[in-house]
Amino acid sequence: MTKQDELKQLVGQEAVKFIEDGMIVGLGTGSTVKFMVDALGKRVADEQLSIVGVPTSQRTKEQAAGLGIPTKGLDEVDHIDLTIDGADQIDKNFQGIKGGGAAHLWEKIVAINSTKNMWIVDKSKMVDQLGSFPLPLEVIPYGSQQLFKRLEKQGFNPVFRMKNNNYVTTDSNNYLIDLHLHKIDNPKKLALTLDQMTGIVEHGLFLNIVNTVIVGEDDGPKVLQAR
Ligand code: A5P
Repeated sequence: MTKQDELKQLVGQEAVKFIEDGMIVGLGTGSTVKFMVDALGKRVADEQLSIVGVPTSQRTKEQAAGLGIPTKGLDEVDHIDLTIDGADQIDKNFQGIKGGGAAHLWEKIVAINSTKNMWIVDKSKMVDQLGSFPLPLEVIPYGSQQLFKRLEKQGFNPVFRMKNNNYVTTDSNNYLIDLHLHKIDNPKKLALTLDQMTGIVEHGLFLNIVNTVIVGEDDGPKVLQAR
């Protein structure tokens, strides 16, 4: 296992300590969350912990099922106590970029329906300013070439996310466009601009959403309270 994977595993293991019996828990998506779901599966098996997971992707749903973690869809629960998810970048104000794993639409819907949100990251994700990680947009396929041109005109440096010459599609069968912005001076202003562009279903700026961040540092996981 690489050093970075070790840090991801440690934050995943730390995060599940916050899960209590009886909770409804949002389960994020990505390589860091995968370690967290493994650790949660172990707690469910070892302690007969009774929880319900609400997965943010088909991938996470399948992993949870394989580990015997009961899951429900978002519309089958009346609340979510805590959602634990990864992130691609987090700045000093605890604003984040998500969507590198193509799941930010479901992740954001689950997050805004959660009483508390926790992000788990290795130290490489903590930055002074957002933007060196390309900002993901989930877009409706219909008219997406026209949307792409509008994004180009605005100087957003859009790139369709492709795999083996095919468009990458999300769990909602949409496409992804990544904006190579290099730096984002005003995340709130950018979020408002993108919110108003027809054809964009959701962007990967997660502003004022997270409560707690667990960062994998060389000397162990650090728990930071965001708000
Ligand atoms: C999924 O679309 C993303 O929001 C992930 O949560 C994010 O990309 C973090 O993934 P890793 O833990 O794999 O870096």
